Amino acid sequence: MYQAPLPPHYASLTDAECDLRIQRAKEALGRNLVILGHHYQRDEIIAHADYRGDSYKLAKDANLQPEAMFIVFCGVHFMAESADILTPDHQVVILPNMAAGCSMADMANHFQVKNAWKQIASVLGDIEATEDSSPGNRVVPVTYINSAANLKAFVGEHHGTVCTSTNAPAALKWALGRGEKVLFFPDQHLGRNTGFKMGYDPQKDMILWDPFKPFGGNTPDRIKEATFILWKGHCSVHKRFTLEQVRTARDLHPSVKVLVHPECELEVVQASDLAGSTEYIIQMVKEAEPGSIWAIGTEINLVNRLAKEHKDKTIFCLDPQICPCSTMYRIHPTFLCWILENLVEGKVMNQVKVPEPTAHWARVALARMLEIGTKD
Ligand code: 13P
Ligand code: SF4
Repeated sequence: MYQAPLPPHYASLTDAECDLRIQRAKEALGRNLVILGHHYQRDEIIAHADYRGDSYKLAKDANLQPEAMFIVFCGVHFMAESADILTPDHQVVILPNMAAGCSMADMANHFQVKNAWKQIASVLGDIEATEDSSPGNRVVPVTYINSAANLKAFVGEHHGTVCTSTNAPAALKWALGRGEKVLFFPDQHLGRNTGFKMGYDPQKDMILWDPFKPFGGNTPDRIKEATFILWKGHCSVHKRFTLEQVRTARDLHPSVKVLVHPECELEVVQASDLAGSTEYIIQMVKEAEPGSIWAIGTEINLVNRLAKEHKDKTIFCLDPQICPCSTMYRIHPTFLCWILENLVEGKVMNQVKVPEPTAHWARVALARMLEIGTKD
């Protein structure tokens, strides 16, 4: 997604000036404005967020302030799209920097997924998970919320659902209550970790679908045998966490609790004490005993914030090299300032609007996700 450079005077603002101008614009816009901030946003942005959350919470909370005409989403593009889909038409969703995408979401596109679906059907026959499809063949498509709106629409149209890291176990259980197999995209790791937690064998019951190879790089027999068809996608931030880092943390701090996001690889999640979404990570740290020690495997802005907010506990990042999400980081305060000052002048910049009929089917899939909820 292209983002034009900001007018030059924004670049020369000091942090304090920028902060003050954001506050002034917020005051001028009053209840007409709501700012949402994902936990991976930098502190200077979180300071201005009316609501903060993980992707599940922000999707659920997007319409918490129905009187607000403008929802400024400080997160990444797929999150702003979901907010647009889930809010009424009169609310305008804005992403401060259009270049704030997600490299994982870019690892699956509509053409590739449609193509995979066709190839799987050529092996299994009638795979649509409707009441009248042949038993034994139904495949339920599940997309991680970290995906473009047209992939959410694809799962909506094909009797599937969206999930987030918060409700992946509930969503996969729901899917396997409707079909014999799940096509899960784009994050292989969330799919594998969740399937493993449900008791499936990663070698026997799961195959990897490489969109650049015929049949995803699988034989027809393996496609027939597998319960989970996992898309070959990953998060470049969470892929950095390793088993070696878990071992080092345990060597240095024998009482350490290792807490990671389920976008990490299976061996890392298995070696950790706990794994869960960003909201879960926050909750675990909040509930922890004073004096406890935590090595956390997720984005550095959140880890540093937790360390600042819980000075009675020792909190550090599992990866000693700093690992920010470079696209989340593109929401710089100067972009927020520019967006808000334009709104004060009556100009809407960077609106994220999902066109129909994509929005309709994506809404069906997101509504299923919210209906499934988080209880597995
Ligand atoms: P959460 O669902 O935990 O917010 O994660 C979103 C994300 O992009 C993690 O990389
Ligand atoms: Fe995407 Fe990973 Fe960044 Fe999350 S942390 S927004 S999955 S690149």
